[in-house]
Amino acid sequence: MAEFQTSPGTRDILHPDSARWRAFTARFSDAAEAAGFHQIIPPMFEDLGVFQRLGEVTDVVTKEMYDFMDKGGRHVALRPEHTASVCRAFVQHRPTLPWLVWYAGPNFRYEKAQHGRYRQFDQVGVEALGSNDPWLDAEVIALGWNFFAGLGLRDVKLVINSLGDDGDRERYVEILRSYLSANSGDLSKESLETLARNPLRVLDSKRDQDAAIVAGAPSIRESLSDAAKEHFATVLEGLDTLGVPFTVNDRLVRGLDYYRRTTFEYVSTALDSAQNAIGGGGRYDGLVEDLGGPATPGIGFALGLDRTLLACDAEGVFAAPTDSTDLFVVDTTGGANATAIAAALRNVGHSVARAYDSRSMKSQMKQADKSGAKVTLIVGESEAETNTVIVRSMVDGTQRTIARDSLIEELKKEFK
Ligand code: HAM
Repeated sequence: MAEFQTSPGTRDILHPDSARWRAFTARFSDAAEAAGFHQIIPPMFEDLGVFQRLGEVTDVVTKEMYDFMDKGGRHVALRPEHTASVCRAFVQHRPTLPWLVWYAGPNFRYEKAQHGRYRQFDQVGVEALGSNDPWLDAEVIALGWNFFAGLGLRDVKLVINSLGDDGDRERYVEILRSYLSANSGDLSKESLETLARNPLRVLDSKRDQDAAIVAGAPSIRESLSDAAKEHFATVLEGLDTLGVPFTVNDRLVRGLDYYRRTTFEYVSTALDSAQNAIGGGGRYDGLVEDLGGPATPGIGFALGLDRTLLACDAEGVFAAPTDSTDLFVVDTTGGANATAIAAALRNVGHSVARAYDSRSMKSQMKQADKSGAKVTLIVGESEAETNTVIVRSMVDGTQRTIARDSLIEELKKEFK
């Protein structure tokens, strides 16, 4: 075994998977730009304080942060997500509102590594700052929904809830705390610990022992202010208008503490229930203020690239793009001719592969076959002497000899 392997929860993404990642991100950027979002590329690490604003009782902050002192004595952390960085950037640069941004990149959480749950994972996402409009919520949610549909995914469910405004949420937490405390004798040991830190998260418990208590818990719906209720109703109306099917689930609380009002998750029913959230998001109307900015509403989502691709595998959609090599050059004269021909053709935009190490004609032809190239160019001693090239179609096996200086023109016929 090699001395070094990737760390737990991290992976090498090799071709053709890497080509699939590239295609995924390209599709997302096209969809986001078409909806008026522009890219932001925040740094991968920030002052720890930025991420502490995600919530004092969030596992992401208390247990999973990759934080360290840098050589200048600053306490920094690798980002566990993008939303806090986007809000920090907003406060720092004060762009005009509304500010619509999209992003793509890795995030780091010290989680228990398993299939579909990694310590370094990629997200693509959007954030829209500066508007309370519930129609914006509907449009943002639809953007994620349509993106999944565009990949070919069919087994996706949108689950949505409202956590109300600041006061609503706090009021509900107390109601829930009393209810759960009164039933604490029936809760699992893990949920009892969660109850002490963050009662809302008990609703997330997937343990059988907790199921009956969670099912009987009071709903947040009754704790919502009239304004929050009306906002939520319009979001749902917006989703209907946009033809996005949804399930309202008043137990959906999500893992990060900054959510207010609209919260949602995209769930793949093709994946195991433990890791079936392929994306999630919501409103975080207090986060910009928490980071020292003016009161500014915000809504967004992040989609888990790694998990979405697992969902694509499970549904047999969005395969890796096939290799796109146009040409393969076989040279049995030592290799200098292949170098010159490949360079000339790459210069005019062709993708060109070739063999190295002066392999036999047979071995080079085998490589040409495997490369998926549409056309193979062959230079042997006699072609080198006469300044010609054999052009062989890999589709039907026909071949012809042409003058080397007419090669670029000739190939225009093959690659229109
Ligand atoms: P999140 O729910 O923590 O939300 O992550 C969003 C998605 O990232 C999840 O649904 C999942 O697909 C993926 N994900 C999270 N952790 C892991 C992991 N350890 N391994 C693999 N995939 C993972 C956020 O991050 C929020 N910033 C979303 C948001 C944006 N809310 C508002 N704006």
